[in-house]
Amino acid sequence: MGQPARISARPSQLKPSSKKRTHLWLLLIPLLCFLSISTPRLGLVGLGEETQRSSHPSPEPAFPDLPRHCAAIPAISPSTFEARRNTLAKRLRQLGAAAYIAEPSSSAAYYFNVSDAHWRLSERPLLFVVTSSVSATADRDGDISANVSILTPKFEATRAKLLPLSPSAYIQWAEEQDPFAVLFDALRLPSNSTVFIDGNARLFVADGLQRALPHGRVQNAPPQVVEIRERKTSEEINILKCANEATLLAIRATHKRMRIGMHESDARELVAGALAAVGLERAGCLTLFGENAALPHGSGTNRVLQKEDFALFDCTGQLHGYWSDVTRTVALPDSSIPDDHLEIWHHVHAAQSLARVATYPGALTNHPDIVARARLMLDGYAPYFTHRLGHGIGLDVHESPYLRGVPAAQATLIQTGHTFSDEPGVYIEGKVGVRLEDCMVVEEGAPYATFLTAGVGGAALSPWEP
Ligand SMILES: *[C@@H]1O[C@H](CO)[C@@H](O)[C@H](O)[C@H]1NC(C)=O
Ligand SMILES: *[C@@H]1O[C@H](CO)[C@@H](O)[C@H](O)[C@H]1NC(C)=O
Ligand SMILES: *[C@@H]1O[C@H](CO)[C@@H](O)[C@H](O)[C@H]1NC(C)=O
Repeated sequence: MGQPARISARPSQLKPSSKKRTHLWLLLIPLLCFLSISTPRLGLVGLGEETQRSSHPSPEPAFPDLPRHCAAIPAISPSTFEARRNTLAKRLRQLGAAAYIAEPSSSAAYYFNVSDAHWRLSERPLLFVVTSSVSATADRDGDISANVSILTPKFEATRAKLLPLSPSAYIQWAEEQDPFAVLFDALRLPSNSTVFIDGNARLFVADGLQRALPHGRVQNAPPQVVEIRERKTSEEINILKCANEATLLAIRATHKRMRIGMHESDARELVAGALAAVGLERAGCLTLFGENAALPHGSGTNRVLQKEDFALFDCTGQLHGYWSDVTRTVALPDSSIPDDHLEIWHHVHAAQSLARVATYPGALTNHPDIVARARLMLDGYAPYFTHRLGHGIGLDVHESPYLRGVPAAQATLIQTGHTFSDEPGVYIEGKVGVRLEDCMVVEEGAPYATFLTAGVGGAALSPWEP
């Protein structure tokens, strides 16, 4: 998955759980374009939204009661970045790999604090390279440390030197040179080396590296390396908790200001203001009323909220680079929701809480999905739960490992430090859509996962108490 883009692109809301839905979404794009041109107030999927928002430069005053919830939460410290790189270096040595290579990406953000927001990807590769150095005294684990090099286009070297890290070498490739050959010449790796490449790197980079190392192996970083970033430390969990709490507070504040008769676009603007007021960056919120919520990515009709309608908010935002992801399906005090829709809400709620308890260290990643699906099967709703239960979350909104009902042989183990979304849903096209989502963390010493929103009450209590 790529790095989520700014609010206007909203890829974070595209929960790509099924191919079928992705195709549906693609079919809807022309419709959305047409609607947003012909009906300016729609402001859908970012089309026309920036202009709408620019007429309200500061949405904060709408939520004077909403404090910047995470002002006291520190960003990742410099020593943590160094420790992460040293862990990586040790892992490389254990696995017999000579180097780890990443493009600017969420993985580069993890190890070097540089994402593709700091250095935009282009056809000219800029690469981060980690090799391991051993001190002369011993070959004990503690003496292995990371040696970082940056491969940069020669004419961009000055700009590369402004990036916030101090590598031991800037390796420069001139326009007439093969960047990958220049890299391996400079590193002087044995020609039969194994090199790990980050899973986000583009194919031409992987391909070019392999061609420049014909007797070696360039391969995707294996699970032992991916795991370093997957398993969060308490420093990261504190950030993730606060981001998710803030997101839920913003949804609740929005809920209090809603009224029957408002448009989806009004609610979308309201929740954007709340997410900004609470202090989240790059925030966005899928906002769908009534039957529109039955299409997990929306329908684009800017529906007016009726008394019989649920409203669904699926919001994300960033704190210190880490993402939140919270979904609430709500009703208003004067709503009159049909009984069968309320029943669906309570079944989804039950599935969500069972799935959390089914998420514990040593369980397989397919287990919580199977449990949530089994709960919905009891009432005949399983066929309407059309996507996976959840995804990992961290520096990417969607990252590995995923909670999917795959065969056991394809599942991996849930471990402490893992953070996942827990988001069952029921979607009956033309009628109703209900999804409830809180992210959860598997912490050391706890029997099963805790919601990252627990600090502000956690899961919804009812459609009226989100
Ligand atoms: C990481 O980058 C952010 C800006 O993107 C900066 O505010 C922060 O201080 C950096 N952290 C370190 C440890 O350099
Ligand atoms: C780190 O890597 C650079 C570039 O390959 C190399 O010149 C340097 O000697 C290395 N340093 C150590 C301590 O291994
Ligand atoms: C790589 O080549 C060196 C000799 O240059 C040899 O000692 C080593 O065993 C080889 N490694 C692999 C994995 O083939």
